[in-house]
Amino acid sequence: MNPNAKKSYSTLDTPCLILQEDLLIKNLSLFQGLANANNKKLRPHIKAHKSIELAKIQIEKGAVGICCSKLAEAEIMVEGGIKDILITSPIVGNTKLDRLGNLSQQATISVVTDSKPQIMILSELAKQYQTVINIFVEIDIGQARCGVQPGLGAFEIAQEIIKYPNLSFSGIQAYHGKLQGIKSFKERANAIDTAMAKLSASLHYFKNGQLPVKTITGGGTGSFLIDLKLPFLSELQPGSYVTMDCNYSQNEWDDEGSLELISQPLSVLSTVISKPQPNKVILDAGWKSISNDAGTPKLKYGLDSFDFAGDEHGVITSSKEYIDLEIGDQVELIPSHCDTTINLYDHFYLVNTYQHRKLAIDARGKIT
Ligand SMILES: Cc1ncc(COP(=O)(O)O)c(C=O)c1O
Repeated sequence: MNPNAKKSYSTLDTPCLILQEDLLIKNLSLFQGLANANNKKLRPHIKAHKSIELAKIQIEKGAVGICCSKLAEAEIMVEGGIKDILITSPIVGNTKLDRLGNLSQQATISVVTDSKPQIMILSELAKQYQTVINIFVEIDIGQARCGVQPGLGAFEIAQEIIKYPNLSFSGIQAYHGKLQGIKSFKERANAIDTAMAKLSASLHYFKNGQLPVKTITGGGTGSFLIDLKLPFLSELQPGSYVTMDCNYSQNEWDDEGSLELISQPLSVLSTVISKPQPNKVILDAGWKSISNDAGTPKLKYGLDSFDFAGDEHGVITSSKEYIDLEIGDQVELIPSHCDTTINLYDHFYLVNTYQHRKLAIDARGKIT
């Protein structure tokens, strides 16, 4: 039998998301344990898993709170009982500000900014909602997205924040997403050094101006093992480590080139619906069930290769004359990008040796 064929999930309707419980818990424990051992606070990003239940497990294990990318994700998490959230993208516009004011009355909410004029707006909001808003100043350490340029800018914004009694200067956010996926450990570590030099150029002004920076938050799954040893970062925000994906699982995790350290609990289960040729089968999963922004998924047991064949179809073609998969067989695919794939589903199936159950992806599609 082709090792790609999977019979044991035959009661699950496909395509669906599988999360293998033992591997999931292993990843959660590994990252929390490493953070503890290195005196770093862990504030995992939930933008990939979007699940209240998983966020709660992360907090039970010792996370100080969570990160969300979007206000709508944070609203769902607060509704689910999460009490401490950093929203890692700037909140702009009256509608969103009203929602932020409301949310700040229900939980400890921190936001990021890179704009001096935005500070007065946030202070007005805090006044209107009789709350205190915690603000991190974002510095662009190479991501070339949001963030003030390294240098004096962050200090100037922080000075503005401390003028207002209803705002709290909580620290700095310094995140560099582009280097997370550099496969070679050494090259990734060098790229992080360069990014940290940019952060250091900004911290210099805080030191001279005697303005304490309580927390410096940043980092992701790819940089985690390197970030643990960095003196500057006090709080780490990895997200993908929970479920992983086939792009991240190609990263080397140490100098020895180890690929196995972080487990791969996530897969998409799909069914063979047609066998048009002896060496080719068609699956019931296409672009609507597995994202393609970071490339094609990989077959879990890796013998053959998958390709997209439309919105609802995928194809496996063997280089041999015959493929040992039949109509009705199930196949597991590892997505290339966990965030964009998980966002296509309402729930995972959490599976262990004995049973499976639904685990809600509560903030799925919450993009505002
Ligand atoms: C600001 C921020 N922090 C942390 C993360 C988590 O990164 P990763 O999924 O690589 O762990 C992301 C992901 O995009 C992010 O945007």
